[in-house]
Amino acid sequence: MVRKKIVVLSGAGVSAESGIPTFRDSNGLWEGHDVMDVASPEGWRRNPELVLDFYNQRRKNALSVHPNQGHSTLADLEEHFDVIIITQNVDNLHERAGSTNVIHLHGELFKSRSTLDHRLIYDISGWELNIGDKCEKGAQLRPHIVWFGEMVPMMELAVKEVTTADIFVVVGTSLQVYPAAGLIDYVSRNVPVYIIDPNMPEVAPRTNLSLIEAPGSVGLKQVAEELAAKYLP
Ligand code: APR
Repeated sequence: MVRKKIVVLSGAGVSAESGIPTFRDSNGLWEGHDVMDVASPEGWRRNPELVLDFYNQRRKNALSVHPNQGHSTLADLEEHFDVIIITQNVDNLHERAGSTNVIHLHGELFKSRSTLDHRLIYDISGWELNIGDKCEKGAQLRPHIVWFGEMVPMMELAVKEVTTADIFVVVGTSLQVYPAAGLIDYVSRNVPVYIIDPNMPEVAPRTNLSLIEAPGSVGLKQVAEELAAKYLP
């Protein structure tokens, strides 16, 4: 039997049950900060210490939490399906749960990047990135995060994966931030689309659309069971 390809678009909601707060649920403030101060090139120019400290705290927090049932259900799907996860999350909970094909649209919390040469990317072990931490060419390192106003280099690959999906699953994203939110428009006609969110975002009607108003852990389990019943012998 040919394995079906499931493409998943995940957002902050999938990590909410692990204890990482979502963005829109916090009133435009992100852990008490204006997002433009901590997640924009202007913010970085104005106050790099603040930005580094902000991501150091996010990293420290990410090290203290664990993948939840939703992440595990997605990882388990790899047994019978080809699964590609396109995540807007910068945490590594999908990987820690065992998912092996994860595209991080908005960058990765546990990586740093040279401010001189964007191709120089390094793993961060532990939680700290500080002023004075430099790349091999001697330039300051910054978080490997796609900030507001920056290009989304992984978008091209994400679009390619979405256009070849047999099944598309959206979980835990308010679908308010572009270009990620536009990925759903690349899903082929008649491909089943499942959207899981306890607070359903607005989506254009389409055929084979299933809206599952539930937390990620519950909704993903339901979808996994449906897919197994439908596609597995
Ligand atoms: N399970 C699933 N979804 C949940 C849960 C849960 N337990 N709890 C909350 N949600 C949903 C919310 O209802 C909301 O629709 O998760 C969604 C989170 O939306 P956002 O906070 O807007 O997060 P996201 O869509 O990932 O944000 C996109 O915006 O700030 C930028 O770069 C940042 O990647 C982020 C992007």
